[in-house]
Amino acid sequence: MSERKPVVAANWKMNKTLAEARDFVDRLLPQVEGSRAEVILCPPSFALPLVAELCKLDAVEVAGQNMHFAESGAYTGEVSAAMLLDVGARAVILGHSERRQLFGETDEALCRKLPVALEAGLTPILCVGETDEQRECHETDRVLRRQIDAGLSRIPDERLAEVIVAYEPVWAIGTGKTASPEQAEDACGFIRSLVGARNAQAAAEIRIQYGGSVKPDNAADLLGREEIDGALVGGAALDPDDFAAIVAAA
Ligand code: PGA
Repeated sequence: MSERKPVVAANWKMNKTLAEARDFVDRLLPQVEGSRAEVILCPPSFALPLVAELCKLDAVEVAGQNMHFAESGAYTGEVSAAMLLDVGARAVILGHSERRQLFGETDEALCRKLPVALEAGLTPILCVGETDEQRECHETDRVLRRQIDAGLSRIPDERLAEVIVAYEPVWAIGTGKTASPEQAEDACGFIRSLVGARNAQAAAEIRIQYGGSVKPDNAADLLGREEIDGALVGGAALDPDDFAAIVAAA
């Protein structure tokens, strides 16, 4: 087992009202007390203040699901790093495949967002991953290299290890199809080697999660792998008992 502290994050996407968020947190907190893994909840931004307040006495952190790189301005519908911090977020998911595919998120924008998040004091969770078609055409490594190179391009070597990377093959997200532990470990190892090409120490320290249909029954196999430092969980993170089981497996 590596010395890196595993990190398990719940990506609620566009789910849960305030009452549902409160109920989830009330049921989750007693189950994750004292866990070995770092636990992060990523509610929709309107629920961040409530979830941050409910978690403030516990070792559970909250994170945004996206962020703009500008400090402020005429960007309807967006939130800034300072705003996320203001409501208690300590991290932010950047480049989730749903943002890339449905909302036009680009590598160019991500290359600006990551350093802004880090400078502001938010841990960026950079999501990368190939589509089904790209995997079939043996383009996985090329896609991962492009996304990692772009996303981390403006992060100085000495801060690389502060980023969390989530390897999320697009074909496994919300589909019930999970990457095999071997496929997930290969891709996470490849991502680590890309970081290693920049800085060996950062490669040893950076945490790389797997995401894509992680469930209580497959979590132990995936998270037991040397190269996999936790999970970014969607569907199974909507239920506090399922999410707690995944945290326990890490
Ligand atoms: P899933 O989502 O666990 O529902 O596949 C993962 C994610 O989108 O981060």
